[in-house]
Amino acid sequence: MTAGPDIVRYVLDDGVRDVLAKELNSRLADAEPLDPDAHGVILASIGASALLQHLPDELLAELGKFTRGHSSVLVLENLPRYDAPPTPVGGFTPEAALAPVNALQLGLVRLLGTTPFAVPYENRGRVMRNVVPNPAAAGTTSSWGSDAEFFWHTDNPHLPFGEQGRDPRPNVPRHLTFYAIRNDERVPTDVVGVDTVLARLTPAAREALARPEFEIGAPASVETGAQPALRGAVLEHDGAAPRMRYDHGTTRGLTARAAAALDELTAALRTDDAERFVLRPGDFLLFDNYRVLHRRRAFTPRPAATARWLRRCYAS
Ligand SMILES: [Fe+2]
Repeated sequence: MTAGPDIVRYVLDDGVRDVLAKELNSRLADAEPLDPDAHGVILASIGASALLQHLPDELLAELGKFTRGHSSVLVLENLPRYDAPPTPVGGFTPEAALAPVNALQLGLVRLLGTTPFAVPYENRGRVMRNVVPNPAAAGTTSSWGSDAEFFWHTDNPHLPFGEQGRDPRPNVPRHLTFYAIRNDERVPTDVVGVDTVLARLTPAAREALARPEFEIGAPASVETGAQPALRGAVLEHDGAAPRMRYDHGTTRGLTARAAAALDELTAALRTDDAERFVLRPGDFLLFDNYRVLHRRRAFTPRPAATARWLRRCYAS
């Protein structure tokens, strides 16, 4: 295991990966079709139980304490991969065919001490988002986009920040988790810490970002019924660390000093020293959506059936 100030990375041995895959397949072999929205608790229980049986003790200990620690990014590499159906570039696919994938991801979410959830105003209210190049989203900055860069942002910044132990749905999602089914295009998910960004700013810009002089709208992935744009600060402090809400495409300053601070923030984000995660099949990534910003560059997808396909699940 390697641990930096912000990132915990762990690579599973091939032997552990294979035995875990076998275990999940065998536990699900006789199961009724399981949908993560209707049967998420069952899938999480099966996945967590298999993971507890086979993951190394040091990794289980890390998962158990991760969200209470100082790290904001977790990467688990070389988890079981699955021969998945063609990439559902339309955004949705029957979930019953993905039971082992769902059990694995929801099991990890459970071992991390977090709760998976969906919001009603995007992804048809489904808990699992297929991050795919959807032709219908061409030109948009959405997780379904590909040809337009999705500049640095946090997800759903138009909501208030939440606190642990409360209903997460009205708030900015705390964690994003991803499991990679395929990424032959080798598209990176870029992540940069809020602390790192703030260190590049002048004190005046930091101070301006903390004033409630911004309008922050809903992202392009929102369907209907989203909350209206929020008027507030881009930067807050929860007592322990700074947290940021920001989407380049939907955030604007309502005063001259707020607009100038946003310009400075945008310029600071253009410097290219982010962490880049090129997820391979079987890789899991979690990051703290309050403590880091993320970005996806424009890319050219492979033919639809084999195009990039990540599974995203919010967890708080
Ligand atoms: Fe995002």
